[in-house]
Amino acid sequence: MTPFALTVNGRAVELLAEPRISLADVVRDKLDLTGTHLGCEHGVCGACTLLLDGVPARSCITYAVACDGAEVTTIEGLDEDDITTELRAAFAREHALQCGYCTPGMLVSARDLVMRLPDADERQIRVGMSGNLCRCTGYVGIVRAVSSVIAERRARGIAPQADGGRKCLGPVGSGHGPETAARLAQGVPSIARSAAPAAVLTIANVTPAITIEQSFEIAHSPEQVFALFGNLAAVASCLPGASLTKADDPRHVEGAIGVQIGPVVASFAGSARIERNAADLSGRIVGSGQDQRSRSTTQGEICYRLTPLAGGASTRVDLSIGYTLTGMLAQVGRSGLVRDLARRMVTEFAGNLDRKLRGAAPGERVASRTINGWSLLLGVARERLARWLGGTVGG
Ligand code: FES
Ligand code: FES
Repeated sequence: MTPFALTVNGRAVELLAEPRISLADVVRDKLDLTGTHLGCEHGVCGACTLLLDGVPARSCITYAVACDGAEVTTIEGLDEDDITTELRAAFAREHALQCGYCTPGMLVSARDLVMRLPDADERQIRVGMSGNLCRCTGYVGIVRAVSSVIAERRARGIAPQADGGRKCLGPVGSGHGPETAARLAQGVPSIARSAAPAAVLTIANVTPAITIEQSFEIAHSPEQVFALFGNLAAVASCLPGASLTKADDPRHVEGAIGVQIGPVVASFAGSARIERNAADLSGRIVGSGQDQRSRSTTQGEICYRLTPLAGGASTRVDLSIGYTLTGMLAQVGRSGLVRDLARRMVTEFAGNLDRKLRGAAPGERVASRTINGWSLLLGVARERLARWLGGTVGG
């Protein structure tokens, strides 16, 4: 997985993707922007056309990670755009669509022509739209629609823009958007190596490969526990191996978690989005991280819900821990082993949480610096052996 950043429809996003993944798959599958359609997936039909740094591009043959720093505008991002609004009306008026599958790509390409062409020349429109195929309409209505919008805008005194709003020179998707240009000027060539990643407004949702359910009870009220869960520095100090590098925004945190499994020492650095719901005392943390040394990557989410026990004197904490691990450390992702490790980590977290709520000194670190996989594994092995011996004797 490779980390990269985009500005999609005006929002900054940080993402992880395999280098072979197309931009179309990223906007559709990771960002839920399904207005970008896939037809041929070979760069022929134009159904996947979107704007990359202001230039129409075929997102099915554009590698997403190669667009690091680029501005992406999908058809959803053109909802309020004047030209696209006029084109939508003209497409409806001129019967320029039937099934509509080609229409998002058509609108993106047509918008570029409306901006650039000085007049409504049918030949130029047909040439300009020749990269967008339609299996339904026969193109006559499409050409009429585009032609009418160009003619109306020129009649209203709106001059063409020779560059069509292009923000950079060079091949589409070459990553020369304003953000990347600024980073290059500062000698920071890639977000993957950036010491200070760009501010994250959105972290995409994840679909974990493995989900582990854990619960523990703690002798403090749900309100106390929920309040502490809102203090990210306090939570990190209770979590074995965790440390924060940025926690000034309660909705977003950056940090690292250290893991040692035998000879392999890994430190996953990444960022997470925090969601909290005070009404039902629940919350969700969605994030991703990468260990540069082992080239392992993880994406995951932790969901929690607090339930009052004993009339509110104590609390049951239900956790759902979901993750996907790739790279060298994925070999420890066998769910039975990880389930045991997670149970012991949660037990350690609960103990630290209890100590914190009972008044450990402010700022005092109650958790160890690194999750020591050996000691956890030895504990797991010890417990399994005891269970097995107990079962044998009992049998
Ligand atoms: S799906 Fe991209 S060009 Fe056909
Ligand atoms: S309207 Fe159906 S493919 Fe164009």
